[in-house]
Amino acid sequence: MNVRAPGRVNLIGEHTDYTGGLVFPMAIDRWTDVEGERSDRLRFRSADESQDVDLPVGVDVDDAADPPWGRYVAAVAAEVGNGLGFDGRVSTTIPIGAGLSSSAALQVALALALGFEGTERELAELVRRSEHRATGVPTGIMDQLSIAAGRDSQAMLIDCNDLSIRYVPIPNELVIVVRFIAHRTLEGSEYANRVAECAAAEKVIGPLRSASLDATTGIEDHVHRRRARHVVTENQRVLDFADALESGDYATAGAIMQDGHRSLRDDFEVSTPTMDAAVAELEADPTVYGARMTGGGFGGCVVALCRPDTNVEGWRVRPVPGARIL
Ligand code: GLA
Repeated sequence: MNVRAPGRVNLIGEHTDYTGGLVFPMAIDRWTDVEGERSDRLRFRSADESQDVDLPVGVDVDDAADPPWGRYVAAVAAEVGNGLGFDGRVSTTIPIGAGLSSSAALQVALALALGFEGTERELAELVRRSEHRATGVPTGIMDQLSIAAGRDSQAMLIDCNDLSIRYVPIPNELVIVVRFIAHRTLEGSEYANRVAECAAAEKVIGPLRSASLDATTGIEDHVHRRRARHVVTENQRVLDFADALESGDYATAGAIMQDGHRSLRDDFEVSTPTMDAAVAELEADPTVYGARMTGGGFGGCVVALCRPDTNVEGWRVRPVPGARIL
């Protein structure tokens, strides 16, 4: 059996998923493959890990920490919960720890290898639970759902409130470039604090998803107020960005990305000086419509929307179908 799960890049809609907001990611042409067969144990080798995983089916996550990637295997197996094992080899072309969802892709691929049955949405929900179980980081569902439900040549506007998806074509005349900035992990980062700060803002003004910009001015705590302002304006940017892309207005789409970056930098405070410098450099290039940091922040990658004649440095990525058994 051979299973393949892509990575993802988010074009706009950052730090909105865990308050039921809007995101605009796409699955990309970089993949994690798992190849092997059923077994009565959880046995995995990886080209990128020095130590193999070899665990009994049903192992507790806390007993699977050596090597550390065993936690993902144990967490996915616990969530799939069918008592089946697998003996396989993992390989990936997704840069690990670069903010392109290498860990979500690994877990989606493992879930399929371990015999998960269900819809794309159920797969994403299961893998979100396994991520929480393995790392304790309270992530949203964007990564898992974009990896499970990607479509060829299309990005997706996901409403994280009801998990509905509007697919939006990415024409060939648009080149999407991802530039790696720094390795990062969301464990031990400010990610969980941001989730808590958004929850604190929601205690004052209710769900950020339906809050107006005006309502955010009523939040007394100035940090929570700025976090809420980012989320409320970012949700609107996702809608405007999708409309701009659909009408071929790439200049507007690029300007929206730039606004989004500033909001992440100033109001949400998840960017870094190196990411800001890369975005500024890309924005100054006449072949770039717009650029922004992408993913959870504190490192990872920046993404740029470019004209076909662009020469900017980075990986060119295209939208691809979601995870599947080959
Ligand atoms: C990480 C999380 C996602 C999302 C982004 C920020 O990638 O896994 O759920 O919150 O950060 O948009």
